[in-house]
Amino acid sequence: MKPAIVLYKSLPDDLRQRLAAHCRITEFAGLTPENIRRHADALAEAEGIIGSGGKVDADFLRHTPRLRVASTVSVGYDNFDVSALNQRGVVLMHTPTVLTETVADTMMALVLTTARRVTEVAERVKAGEWTRSIGPDWFGIDVHHKKMGILGMGRIGLALARRAHAGFGMPILYHARKPHPEAESRFDARYCDLDTLLRESDFLCISLPLTADTHHLIGAEQLAKMPRSAVLINAGRGPVVDEAALIAALQEGRLHAAGLDVFEQEPLDPQSPLLSLPNVVALPHIGSATHETRYAMARDAVDNLIAALRGEVDKNCVNPQALG
Ligand code: DGY
Repeated sequence: MKPAIVLYKSLPDDLRQRLAAHCRITEFAGLTPENIRRHADALAEAEGIIGSGGKVDADFLRHTPRLRVASTVSVGYDNFDVSALNQRGVVLMHTPTVLTETVADTMMALVLTTARRVTEVAERVKAGEWTRSIGPDWFGIDVHHKKMGILGMGRIGLALARRAHAGFGMPILYHARKPHPEAESRFDARYCDLDTLLRESDFLCISLPLTADTHHLIGAEQLAKMPRSAVLINAGRGPVVDEAALIAALQEGRLHAAGLDVFEQEPLDPQSPLLSLPNVVALPHIGSATHETRYAMARDAVDNLIAALRGEVDKNCVNPQALG
């Protein structure tokens, strides 16, 4: 008999069919407390789950006694308690490769949009304010040849470094857990400590996952080390930056601008002070959100689930050790 699985995010028809050829599917939208209650029987039977968002921790796992595989349609997996999964022998699959270039594009878009005030001036044009040749109150700052600081040199950091180096002639500084020889040989990137990165970057671009070590890694003390002319970009995870400290720095003019694709709470509260600051560009976590990339992520997540249910975890597995 085909294994029972729970699908908690909608999939393109062809991918749903591919999944249905291998699994018996119960589908609902999101691992909300209400859905977990309502679909208790399906969860109790499920050997696999696939979707994105929602908390998968020891509490959740009590509802899924037969679970063997969790497949997330994302590269990030901070919503999963990996040690609880390990204890239960559940493998976690993710989609680390297919979104790299698209997320790096999003980061570069935030760099350009904040520096050149693209959204702000475009809104002024729409409001009918472009009535004569523009003056300095419409000007931005240069991007090309400025210093790009990258915090986190994983796949996305490397793709951003390539753009900044090859396309914009930017010298690259980076801080990561360890030096990255490829970034250094291909893009002349210079490894430095976090303090140097903060003090010297014109654009500080954060591409870090959320872990106990990165939570609020950038707080008031770190922001105070950045030059007033610097721009902060975050497309990793919101809680890597202490948002209240960032808001204070922006309100007090201690930072030039911020470009944010991720927030401490998502969706962002419409009352957030970030939204009334003209030098903030806030995006609704669109990092990987193109048709092509979201399709590729869903396809990989489906293939990951099918393979892992067969015991094949050589690719895209966060915790192969869970198999013992
Ligand atoms: C991920 O996959 O974790 C990204 O945040 C999606 O944009």
